[in-house]
Amino acid sequence: MHGGGGGRWGGSVVGAPQRERGSFQHLGHLKRLMSYVRRYAVVLVVGTVGLAIARLALYLMPWAQKLAVDSLADPAAEPYLLIPALMILGVVASQFIIYVPARRVLRRISIAAAYDLRKRFFNVVQYQGPNFFNKFGTGDLMSRAVNDISMVRMVVSFGAVNIVMFVFSVIAALWFMLVMSPALTFWVVLPLPFVAVIGFMMARGMFPFFRERQEALATLTSFTQENLNGIRTIQAMAQENQEIDRFRRASTRYAQKFYRAERYQVIVGVSMTLLTMISPVVILLYGGFLVLDGELTIGSFNAFFGYLILITSQVQSIGWSLSMFTSAAAATQRIFEVLDYPPEVVDVAEAQLPPDINGRLEFRNFSYRHPGAARPTIDGINLHVDAGETVALLGRIGSGKSTILKAAVRLIDTPRGSVFLDGRDICEVPIRRLREAVTMVPQDPFLFSAPLKENLTYDKPDRGEEAILEAVDAAGLTETLGRLVNGLDTVVGERGTTLSGGEKQRSTLARGLIRRADVLLLDDCFSSVDTETEEQILGGLQRMRSGKTTLLISHRVSTARHANRIYVIDNGRVLESGTHEELLAQGGYYADLEAVQSSQDRDRARRGQLLRQLDGSRGELPPLAPTGSDVA
Ligand SMILES: Nc1ncnc2c1ncn2[C@@H]1O[C@H](COP(=O)(O)OP(=O)(O)OP(=O)(O)O)[C@@H](O)[C@H]1O
Ligand SMILES: [Mg+2]
Repeated sequence: MHGGGGGRWGGSVVGAPQRERGSFQHLGHLKRLMSYVRRYAVVLVVGTVGLAIARLALYLMPWAQKLAVDSLADPAAEPYLLIPALMILGVVASQFIIYVPARRVLRRISIAAAYDLRKRFFNVVQYQGPNFFNKFGTGDLMSRAVNDISMVRMVVSFGAVNIVMFVFSVIAALWFMLVMSPALTFWVVLPLPFVAVIGFMMARGMFPFFRERQEALATLTSFTQENLNGIRTIQAMAQENQEIDRFRRASTRYAQKFYRAERYQVIVGVSMTLLTMISPVVILLYGGFLVLDGELTIGSFNAFFGYLILITSQVQSIGWSLSMFTSAAAATQRIFEVLDYPPEVVDVAEAQLPPDINGRLEFRNFSYRHPGAARPTIDGINLHVDAGETVALLGRIGSGKSTILKAAVRLIDTPRGSVFLDGRDICEVPIRRLREAVTMVPQDPFLFSAPLKENLTYDKPDRGEEAILEAVDAAGLTETLGRLVNGLDTVVGERGTTLSGGEKQRSTLARGLIRRADVLLLDDCFSSVDTETEEQILGGLQRMRSGKTTLLISHRVSTARHANRIYVIDNGRVLESGTHEELLAQGGYYADLEAVQSSQDRDRARRGQLLRQLDGSRGELPPLAPTGSDVA
């Protein structure tokens, strides 16, 4: 599958992605993590010191060997074996007693830091607005919250500690080697700084590869997520093969990016290994020469190899640690891109809303342009809902009705001086307080994967059964409830019983009604119900909302006609306004709509009657409809 890609990687590893190449600032992103690690500083230091001690113990092993070998090589000396043997056993024991707990402590810190980071990430996302979610897709956010934070966890757990260990080990090894032979130490260690420098430079160059790899993974994740959400649409339209093909492309892209990053990592690893191969040759030739000259004992000659192995593993792992730093820097940058995103809707803490709200909602010359839209969605709208009134908005699709409702609960960044609740600018009300007073039932009904009861009492789970049943009744959901096997405890939503579109809509309506908010905003909650249920719901609304303010959107004259006032919205402006009768008398858009819809309703009613007749006279010939002419 990678026939085409193979050539490309060859070129691309050498010619790394141009942007962001080789600059120190990427590692600077890691500084942002300090505040998450600082609170564990003491434990971090203790753990690191523990690891250092365990490491130091390892350096006694070649020394013990040296003592034993030297005593054997000298025929005049007593064999000296017991103490070195005990030393080695002691070293092994220290690894169990010190190394294991220290590692464990460090791992726990990294888990705790990742936990804190993930919590903050989630909190930030909860309060973001539409711009944010336009910029960061769901899969993208998932990938940042999962993969990038894991990467950061790795660097906290291993990265920093490995660097400390590296410095520590080098000093310890140098000390032991210098004691044995300064001249040989000089030549053995000479190539090692080059290894470290080259490793560091290569690791720096790796940043763009890792960022690209993470981005490709984010694309893949969002694709998969979108696909699963839309699987029914895909199957209904028989687009499975095309989706498989699209997935293959996204997946291949990720694999290619992954190979590129891996390949770079391998090049770094191999180059370093090759460079470290020089040192054993030096020991063999120059060290052997020193032994022959009598300037170095056989034991020391042997110990040099031991120290070299210890130091080499550190030098190699420093390259790995550095490469981990570069990918963690990429991950950190991606995490903080989200954390730093300025909140669109800025809350105020200054004023509180007085405890009793009358519920007069007013839009004064309200205009709004969606970010990136060519023209304003709302263009100087004036409308008001007096306390206790029910007002309806009606208009063509895309005319701006939902935007008006969203403005009233600041789901969009409502401009100051345009929306007022009881005469007070809603921008001066803390958002939480505002949304307690003003409840909106959104246009797309959304149910959580939870029992119906929890869905209805989402904001306050301790509501009594009576209150729930009242709202269920008012929303015309009683019949549906009777059909659910476990009643209110039936799990609905994605992982439960699938409710029909209309049932979902009525469930969210009940969720809105149950709050008995001072102001209720209903965004097209009656679109999927039949005329009969509609009548029932309108009755329920009247019962539960009497004396309270309700602003509802509808496509149907039959719903809107009961309102105290109706506004017809067109192109973000108020086209007509007035009571049902006034608007009919005006003979404008509303009157036309009324004419069309009532003839459709008559038509539907007649068809229903016909079907019932048909049902009743099964076996007989259905009466040929003479009504055809007056339907048209
Ligand atoms: N996030 C957005 N970014 C850009 N444009 C948007 C955004 N949301 C809505 N719009 C545009 O604003 C206009 C009004 O949208 P709105 O949802 O208010 O219409 P509506 O009257 O509620 O329509 P419907 O009856 O279909 O629900 C539409 O043209 C829509 O495309
Ligand atoms: Mg809408």
